[in-house]
Amino acid sequence: MKIKLSPRLEVIADCVAGAKLIADIGTDHGYLPVYLVENAMVSRVIASDTNWQPLKKAEKIINEQQLQKQIETRLGSGLSVLKPGEVEAVVMAGMGGLLIRDLLEAQPEVARQLKKLVLQPMNNQAVLRKHLEATGFRIIREDLAREGDRVYEVIVAAPGKMIMTNPLEYELGFEFYTSKHPLLLHLIERKIFLEQQIVLNTEGKTTAVATKQWQESSLFIEKLNEVKRCLLN
Ligand SMILES: C[S@@+](CC[C@H](N)C(=O)[O-])C[C@H]1O[C@@H](n2cnc3c(N)ncnc32)[C@H](O)[C@@H]1O
Repeated sequence: MKIKLSPRLEVIADCVAGAKLIADIGTDHGYLPVYLVENAMVSRVIASDTNWQPLKKAEKIINEQQLQKQIETRLGSGLSVLKPGEVEAVVMAGMGGLLIRDLLEAQPEVARQLKKLVLQPMNNQAVLRKHLEATGFRIIREDLAREGDRVYEVIVAAPGKMIMTNPLEYELGFEFYTSKHPLLLHLIERKIFLEQQIVLNTEGKTTAVATKQWQESSLFIEKLNEVKRCLLN
């Protein structure tokens, strides 16, 4: 039976479709590589993970679907499992934005030769967008996927120059912002909710770190509410 993906992984699959050889870094269950190959969306995949337990899970499903010729598994951290220029595109999904940034930074010679990066950071999206801008990548597509209360941001980048002029573009993604993505309002509401949790946790605390966090989150909530009002008008 063919694999069915969650809405988040479906959006990611669509973003990487068309490439010949890709790597899925942090593959875990291996659903994405299996789906991509079964549906002829890519020809071959290197599926890697830094932990052997998830890699074993991925190998099990690859063997069950008899896709060992098209999907190779590799154990190791980030882009260290790849040679420069070996794959056309990488997917790094379901990991924190700081970890994705650190993995790109750790292997610059591999990162530099990638034609496409499909990134789905679980948090710290703004940090990642800034990193792409600073390291010679341009965002060519952004998409959103919703699963229950959560809205996931998918960032697709290619080599090139990009200059973001509005700080909110790092936070919200210029594509969603300019194209008024149907899930943009949900994304903004989700971000407001998360910032409100920070405000609640830091309220009344007197340490410098807590005060700074409280101020930054309160200001960010104001800005997000402004964008929300503009969208609704
Ligand atoms: C939450 S899962 C995401 C799985 C899948 N990519 C997805 O989006 O559904 C994160 C996976 O990343 C792996 N991982 C964490 N750090 C890693 C690293 N430095 N290099 C490669 N994989 C890593 C974990 O072992 C885990 O299997």
